[in-house]
Amino acid sequence: MTANGLFITLEGPEGAGKSTNRDYLAELLGASGREVVLTREPGGTPLAERIREILLAPAAEPMAVDTELLLMFAARAQHLAQVVRPALARGALVLCDRFVDATYAYQGGGRGVPVERIATLEAFVLGDLQPDLTLVFDLPVKIGLARAARRGVLDRFEQEQCAFFEAVRQTYLDRAQAVPARYRLIDASRSLAEVQAELRALVATLEPTLGG
Ligand SMILES: Nc1ncnc2c1ncn2[C@@H]1O[C@H](COP(=O)(O)OP(=O)(O)O)[C@@H](O)[C@H]1O
Ligand SMILES: [Mg+2]
Repeated sequence: MTANGLFITLEGPEGAGKSTNRDYLAELLGASGREVVLTREPGGTPLAERIREILLAPAAEPMAVDTELLLMFAARAQHLAQVVRPALARGALVLCDRFVDATYAYQGGGRGVPVERIATLEAFVLGDLQPDLTLVFDLPVKIGLARAARRGVLDRFEQEQCAFFEAVRQTYLDRAQAVPARYRLIDASRSLAEVQAELRALVATLEPTLGG
């Protein structure tokens, strides 16, 4: 499905440790000698990063839910065309901080967009591309928000209320449970050392498929 590459996505709410552990996984996987591509959504290309700025910036004009949804998929289409599909075609390991599961969690769970509508756009933009593995970093909402708050000014999503983030979390959990073969649920409330020990064990199980 992803040619010879491997497509790994990292998901979870604010402050779950996605970015920290994406960089850690890159170090671990780099040892295989394979090309590792680190990227993120929304964004990952100059144009898609401009769309990200629009999506994250608090603004006086409220953003319609459908506008938010379509901008997410517009950025994703650009990112897939410019970065993800070419990298997978070259055989790279692609580590992406958030992907389509985040749309189900934030626009679906958080904003209440019907799941069928997201699935329609997913089919349109992704075709039959799916991540090979999705790591869901799960932790209680309050712990994640406290970690994220240490980063400083809150973006348009981080300014949402607790109920929004509870729905985001539950959507991730439901999706992980529905397709256990593709998802790995990681208890991100543990110390970073414990989380990273689990990632080392996970990479050890992947190694036979990585070549090198
Ligand atoms: N397991 C952990 N325990 C404690 N702090 C953590 C843990 N994982 C990440 N952090 C810290 O929490 C903050 C948010 O982590 P980050 O990787 O930016 O989360 P995300 O990308 O999921 O929003 C950072 O300051 C990071 O160092
Ligand atoms: Mg991050």
